[in-house]
This record gives sequence, C-alpha cells and structure tokens, in this order.
Amino acid sequence: MTASDTPSGDILTETSNGSSVENTTEDESVKQTDGDRKRKMDETEISGGNHVDDCVSPSKMQKSQFVCLPFSEFNVQNNFSEDMQVLKSMWFSKISGSAHQDILESFYSPQAKLYDGYRSRMLHARPPMMKNLSIVWVDLGGGTGSSVEYMSNALDEGWFSSVVVLDLCPSLHKIAEERAKKWPGIVKAVLGDACNQNEEGLPPAGSCDLVTFSYSLVMIPDWKGAIANALRLLRPGGRLCVCDFTVLPQKGQWTVTQEMWKRIFARDHVHLSDEHLKYLKSVTEPEKEDCGFGSFPYVPLLKAGWYWYVGKKPEDADVNPTGQ
Ligand SMILES: C[S@@+](CC[C@H](N)C(=O)[O-])C[C@H]1O[C@@H](n2cnc3c(N)ncnc32)[C@H](O)[C@@H]1O
Repeated sequence: MTASDTPSGDILTETSNGSSVENTTEDESVKQTDGDRKRKMDETEISGGNHVDDCVSPSKMQKSQFVCLPFSEFNVQNNFSEDMQVLKSMWFSKISGSAHQDILESFYSPQAKLYDGYRSRMLHARPPMMKNLSIVWVDLGGGTGSSVEYMSNALDEGWFSSVVVLDLCPSLHKIAEERAKKWPGIVKAVLGDACNQNEEGLPPAGSCDLVTFSYSLVMIPDWKGAIANALRLLRPGGRLCVCDFTVLPQKGQWTVTQEMWKRIFARDHVHLSDEHLKYLKSVTEPEKEDCGFGSFPYVPLLKAGWYWYVGKKPEDADVNPTGQ
C-alpha cells in the first residue's frame, strides 16, 4: 500500500489544472508556489516596489490560492491480490445477522483492512466534494468591495458560500452594494463599524473561515477592537489576513523617515504603526507574511512601507472569546 498524506495543518492549494500543490513550511511554500508562478509574478511586479507581488489577475490566478482550507491527497492503493479479496467480499460474501450493526459487520469485517485501498479509487465524488467545501469570508473595512474582484473566479466556481463586505463609509458602501449584485445570494455589502460586535448582517460568531482587512486597519481608530471582532467571527483554525501600509524599522527605515510617513498619512486619517503586525502575531498563529516598499502613481522616488500577513486563529481557541 502507498499513501500520500500530509500532516494536519499543512495547506494544499489546487492549481488551475486540478493538480494539488502542498505548501508545508513558509520557505517551501515560497519555493513551490514560485516554481509555478515565476513567469506570472515577473509580469506583476508592484510598480516601483522592491518586491514582486503574489497577486495576479483573477484569470491567471491559481485556483484557491487564497483559500486556506487544508486538503490532503489520499491515494492508498492495494496490490492486485488484495483488490481481489475486496471484490470477493463485495460480490460473494454471505451477509449474516439481523441487527443493522451485525449486517454491517458481516459485510465489512473481511475487507475492513483493505477498504481504503479499493474505495479510494471507487468513491469518485468524495475528493471533489472535499475540495468544494465552501468558504465564509468577511472583509472588514472593505470599501467599494474591490477585494472581492480578485476572488471573482473562485466565486464563480462556487468556492465561497457567503462573503460579507462591511464598511462604515456610506458612499463606498453604496458602490460595494452595486458590486455585490454580481453574485446574488453570496456577496452582501453591510454598512457598519468593524469594531461593533453586534453589527447586523455579520455572520454568527465562530462561523467564518476567513476575515480580511485590506488597507483598513490603519484607518480604524480602535484597531484592537476590530481585530477582536475579527477573531470573534473566525472559527478556530480560520485565517485572519491583513495587508496595509506600515513603517518598517526592521527593514532599516530611518526613524526620521518613519516619522515623515506617519505625518504624511495622518493627514488622511491613516495611522501607520508597526504595532499592528506585532499585535496580529500575538493573537494569531503566524503562517505567512512579507513586507517591502512601494511607490505611488505619478510620485517619483517616494516609497512607503507595506506588509501582508496571514495568521491562524488557534485550533484550541474559544469559538467566541468575547461571549457576544
Ligand atoms: C484605504 S480604504 C480600503 C478599502 C478596501 N479595503 C480596499 O482595499 O480598497 C480603508 C477603508 O476602511 C474603512 N473604515 C475605516 N474605519 C472603519 C470602521 N471603523 N469600520 C468599518 N470600516 C472602516 C473606510 O471607510 C475605508 O473604506
């Protein structure tokens, strides 16, 4: 018998041609995904940035790249004689007993040890069912809902059962509401505060697979309250994903430059802080992250710090730590 399985917690992402790629450690994941995506990434370098962005257009994007449900290949195989024993049991064995459990036992006991080796090649609908477990995603501070566009292929393919785009700004929310109409019954725009644990329209506590903040955490004054709400929404093992502007002392950014950027952004009520990432790492299990500097359209030379982060709500965490 041969089995190819992955330890629990490893992430498998399915490529567009249907084959699976195993992402074990952060380093390996970079290696493996890079192998496949190298060409695409070369085409998608952030304009003027030091880093190559992983985000490619939806049409080029590998299926489920962002979907963090672990999926393990399970290809157990019997040898020929073992398969014959299974077939003999299935076709010719005498079923005995009157109680349901006794009937089951008499049918399966002669083939129990060989069951997986034969059935994994016979129960064809099981892997696609497992791969199509639907994702519940909440995008907090989602603005116009444009993050959803990056997932439009995945949405069309049915990867998501529910997507909520929540934002506090009425005019941006209105655009998100229009956009949500493209996926009726799946994508919903909610006008509300990311820190409000009683906001109507949010899914129940502990029911979300994915909560994202895309460039919104820096604009939320009570950002710890927003993170608490995100953790409340996530199921244990769900992913909290954040990308934002930041200051990067760890990348050698001078204190004076950090202060300059803080002041520039503060004029737009954007409050840069390296505390955000540190705090995210303290309340979730860090899985993947990157940071770098990126430019602004039409602005020469100036580059601001950015980061993205994927963390897991611990499996043993309370489903709803706040009780709300
Ligand atoms: C820079 S925009 C990012 C929008 C979008 N996520 C994106 O990636 O394009 C920041 C967003 O955070 C929203 N925001 C700020 N404070 C918020 C709060 N307390 N609750 C919900 N949304 C908030 C703003 O209205 C704005 O849409």
